[in-house]
Amino acid sequence: MSVEVSGVEFEQPVLLASGILGSTGASLNRALRSGAGGVVTKSVGPHERTGHPGPNVFVDDSDEYALNAVGLSNPSTAFADEVEKVEGPTVVSVFGGTADEFAEVARNFEPYADAFELNVSCPHAEGYGVDIGADPDLTQDVTAAVADAVDRPVWVKMTPDVTDVTRIGVAAQEGGADAVVATNTLSALAIDVESGRPILGNVHGGMSGSALKPVAVRCVYDLYEALDIPIVGVGGVSSAEDAVEYMLAGARAVEVGTAVRDAVGVLGEIAQGVEEYKRRKSLSHDELVGRAHELAPEGGEE
Ligand SMILES: Cc1cc2nc3c(=O)[nH]c(=O)nc-3n(C[C@H](O)[C@H](O)[C@H](O)COP(=O)(O)O)c2cc1C
Repeated sequence: MSVEVSGVEFEQPVLLASGILGSTGASLNRALRSGAGGVVTKSVGPHERTGHPGPNVFVDDSDEYALNAVGLSNPSTAFADEVEKVEGPTVVSVFGGTADEFAEVARNFEPYADAFELNVSCPHAEGYGVDIGADPDLTQDVTAAVADAVDRPVWVKMTPDVTDVTRIGVAAQEGGADAVVATNTLSALAIDVESGRPILGNVHGGMSGSALKPVAVRCVYDLYEALDIPIVGVGGVSSAEDAVEYMLAGARAVEVGTAVRDAVGVLGEIAQGVEEYKRRKSLSHDELVGRAHELAPEGGEE
């Protein structure tokens, strides 16, 4: 079942996504015990931040999507005390407002990280996230700064909020990224019809869950055509079928966020189901990854 992504070996191709159960060593270890092949921590930055006022998470009644505007709350370097407790492959998610800040945070966490994931894609924190990751030049600079600063694989997490995600992916690759992760949440807003007020304290938030999946699968598919480095898929994975869909599009591994909030055991179930699919179809992992490109109808490209 094990899979290698950018030189890091994961027991399963199903990882915990950043920001969900990722704030303490105990909860990260719980995800590993529940079947995650590895974990991505909550994003950590150069300064302590309290985040946005509540409500900062809203789950729609349909269960098709959730919105969040947590606002990159994090304890900065104090977070190292939690990350060092993790007993499995650990991808440390970092953010900053400049290339130097990204590099500084990565350097501080290098002893505890098997790889870094650069959050250049959070849609609800001004001056951070998507303010960098929607710009190819800034994305390349930030990636290059971290790749120079640390001796660990660098993954760059894409925003779906751009016209052409491959421009950002190519910029990350040129900056020295070892993998890209697609995608972070999609910028979104919900209004309570009775009160007439926006629901989130921050008004704007990021959409995750099932409704994000076709958007993120499209990003993975297009990135697979454009890049030579591996891709990790994330967005709306809640079943083995969802994970397989990402792999057919070109993802070597997937991350799961919203679906683990209530049921952390889903991580192991998804990994098991992916194995069963490969057995049923007599496919190796390498044969599964990107297979939809070989099977796509003629003339189906943009
Ligand atoms: C409550 C919450 C907090 C999140 N925090 C982070 C974060 O700190 N850093 C990050 O890169 N992504 C963060 N994300 C985005 C997820 O890692 C993931 O990219 C997104 O939710 C899509 O996956 P999902 O549909 O499986 O949740 C967060 C998502 C949620 C719902």
